[in-house]
Amino acid sequence: MTERTFSILKPDATERNLTGKINAVIEDAGLRIVAQRRIRMTEEQAKTFYEVHKERPFYGELVGQMTSAPVVVQVLEGENAVAKYREIMGATNPEQAAEGTIRKLFAKNVGENSVHGSDSQDNAKLEIAQFFTEDQIVG
Ligand code: CMP
Repeated sequence: MTERTFSILKPDATERNLTGKINAVIEDAGLRIVAQRRIRMTEEQAKTFYEVHKERPFYGELVGQMTSAPVVVQVLEGENAVAKYREIMGATNPEQAAEGTIRKLFAKNVGENSVHGSDSQDNAKLEIAQFFTEDQIVG
């Protein structure tokens, strides 16, 4: 089934000029980038986005990291986009990520892990709605 997922190319990726290389991996996997915008995430946006993690010990560091440099927010569309993007991102911790995945190729560590992708279709809808209106998504 064709579906959408939400993606962020994180500060460690924009800082190292890796957005094109990461987009190439995404497109080679058959996912279409149907919306994309480079933004400087505000502290409020980052706190809202990662609210589910607010009790975790790394929450403060995570919010600080996500607001430290520009990010690229994206909507990806394709067959089983949520699961497919999670597969090509690789494990959250790059040390555990499979060969050829984005995190294995590019991530520095678990905090600076280059990309975020939604973990379910419900969360994808919520995350997309935080950053895009429907008219900004061109499938
Ligand atoms: P992401 O998919 O953006 O969702 C939550 C983020 O928290 C995760 O990727 C990691 O970058 C970050 N994070 C930092 N430290 C940890 C940790 N110890 N365990 C899991 N996630 C972590």
